[in-house]
Amino acid sequence: MVSRRRFIQELATATGAVVLVPAVSRCGSSAKPAVRAASTPAVRAPELLPVPMIPTQDWDALAFNRKRGNQGAIPASYLPDINGSEGDTKHLGKHLPFVPDVSGIAVPSGYLAIMWGDPDKGHAPHPNAEPGPENNNEGHWYNWIKVRKATTDTADEAESTYASWPVVAPGDSGAYAAPHGADPSDDDGRKTIYLAALPADVKPGDRVRIWAHCLTHGEYVDFLTLPV
Ligand SMILES: [Fe+2]
Repeated sequence: MVSRRRFIQELATATGAVVLVPAVSRCGSSAKPAVRAASTPAVRAPELLPVPMIPTQDWDALAFNRKRGNQGAIPASYLPDINGSEGDTKHLGKHLPFVPDVSGIAVPSGYLAIMWGDPDKGHAPHPNAEPGPENNNEGHWYNWIKVRKATTDTADEAESTYASWPVVAPGDSGAYAAPHGADPSDDDGRKTIYLAALPADVKPGDRVRIWAHCLTHGEYVDFLTLPV
């Protein structure tokens, strides 16, 4: 049996990526605002909806992220798009995670494969891009993904970081992959699969919360079920 460490080393070798052990924090409450106040006391942090630990019975990811986005979790420049007539499918939906078909690729133990914008739901696939004029030279990709078991109990939260794309940077704790035969940068980056670290206290079939940040378009929250 291949150990997790060796598997990660092999992944790094195969992809040219550097894969490190993810940062894991344990906390009972993660309902903290993502945007903090500036150092001047006169500036107050925006009031954001708390990020729920478990989905509400009538959980509606589009509605939740639209509301929280309008409160400040999504840049003001993107609000006309998310509030527009195609906001659900082309903008909010584009930023919601789903578990892709990973047949033909190796997902290392302890990691979850994620893509954004599920075509099966009619959502636009999320593109990714290197820094350039069209993205204020900041790049367009998810630069952090936090995964936590969907529970109100105390739980670990694993955070994967991505300082560059389409290849992770030294020190990054996440990794990239692509559907079999593809490259992450194919189709304007729509083939990118994010490999996000799982906390140690989850098992196949568990519900997890995905809280992630797109460099260009802000924060998004949703829940996924881990593959069995
Ligand atoms: Fe985006």
